[in-house]
Amino acid sequence: MNVLQQLVLALHLLGMAAIVGGWLATRSDLRPIAPIVWGARAQIVTGLLLVGLVQSLEPDEVNNGKIAVKLLVALAVAGCAEMANARYRKDGSSQASLVTAAAGLTVVNVLVATLW
Ligand code: HEM
Repeated sequence: MNVLQQLVLALHLLGMAAIVGGWLATRSDLRPIAPIVWGARAQIVTGLLLVGLVQSLEPDEVNNGKIAVKLLVALAVAGCAEMANARYRKDGSSQASLVTAAAGLTVVNVLVATLW
């Protein structure tokens, strides 16, 4: 793993921390705060960058099934975060279920990343 790959992986882990940390920080009213929404967006961008880097440097290491599942879960995380954000901006309602779904699916993706 080269330095660029390590730095993108660090951003990838910080994006995950922003989503889970955002959920923990707002657990009393569970609003879709900016770190949750931007963390969800960042996971897709940094994840795809990582795939490109791993593919170019260590092609045998790419597990396409795992990447496909992680991408689908990450799209669901971003969908929940974006929907919660749009509704919160419209009427100020907290969107606890969508924010919790985004954080829960993020934990699912951590488990896919580590256990698969
Ligand atoms: C909520 C979304 C996501 C979470 C929480 C997440 C979590 C993680 C974690 C904890 C790691 C480090 C553990 C490991 O190296 O196996 C990791 C690595 C990685 N993730 Fe994600 N991920 C997410 C989305 C994505 C997406 C959308 C992609 C690609 C489409 C992706 C591709 C990768 C790749 C390629 C690695 C590096 C594996 C390696 O270098 O060995 N991730 N992810």
